[in-house]
Amino acid sequence: MSKAVQGFGVGLRTEHYSDFVASPQRVDWLEIISENYLVDGGKPLHFLDRIRRDYPMVMHGVSLSIGSTDPLDSDYLRQLKALVERVEPAWVSDHLCWTGTDSLNLHDLLPLPYSEATLRHLTPRVAQVQDLLGCPFLLENVSSYVSYRADEMSEWEFIGELVARTGCQLLLDVNNIYVSSVNHGFDPRVFIDAVPAAAVRQIHLAGHEDHGDYIIDTHDHPICDAVWDLYAYSVRRFGAVPTMIERDDHIPSLGELIAELDAVRLVAERVLAEQRQAA
Ligand SMILES: [Fe+2]
Repeated sequence: MSKAVQGFGVGLRTEHYSDFVASPQRVDWLEIISENYLVDGGKPLHFLDRIRRDYPMVMHGVSLSIGSTDPLDSDYLRQLKALVERVEPAWVSDHLCWTGTDSLNLHDLLPLPYSEATLRHLTPRVAQVQDLLGCPFLLENVSSYVSYRADEMSEWEFIGELVARTGCQLLLDVNNIYVSSVNHGFDPRVFIDAVPAAAVRQIHLAGHEDHGDYIIDTHDHPICDAVWDLYAYSVRRFGAVPTMIERDDHIPSLGELIAELDAVRLVAERVLAEQRQAA
């Protein structure tokens, strides 16, 4: 049976396996990248089996390509289901994106056209994944650098409509909202105000590469000031949603990462305390 996921987590990375095995860490739960554990045997699965005894887990994928015009990859889904049975995660997430078509994988999380046609395309595909997994399925907003002439609505309107049609839940990446807001020139608070609050099950925080008039979402820096502010704004709207830090490059020691996670806890606790006082 899956363990409840609450509080503050980090993405489990190879560099920190031995820390998690050696002693208890001040981390409430862990997110694993599903694709790192789809091959039978070896070191990753060994550590996964060991660490999952002590920490509730969620699974996060990068290659579902829910928006592609190719059929969903049945081999991948079968492997994903087997991993769900092994890990018993509280939920599984992937990105609201496409990663290629005609069997070509671009290894990038590309945004979708926000249109009625895309919604009609996605709805049965989300249902297929939900039916297969047998646990909650979350979709994450991606960072984007382009938009389409075919867009008929904003990203937040599109997400709201998708949730209404499919009952999927949301992994809100606050850094991605900020990155896209700078790249496209919208107010990130409008995005946060608009998404259906009841569907938000998890929050991602991360750092990025700031090039002044554009931002690249690299997950290789600490969280920036603007994203801290936006996280506080998110806690005001969504309450105590399980929140974690993603770090994929320039990975710091687990101690450093946990110090940053402690700062996340403090922000959330401060906002929730202010709300209790105001009530
Ligand atoms: Fe993310």
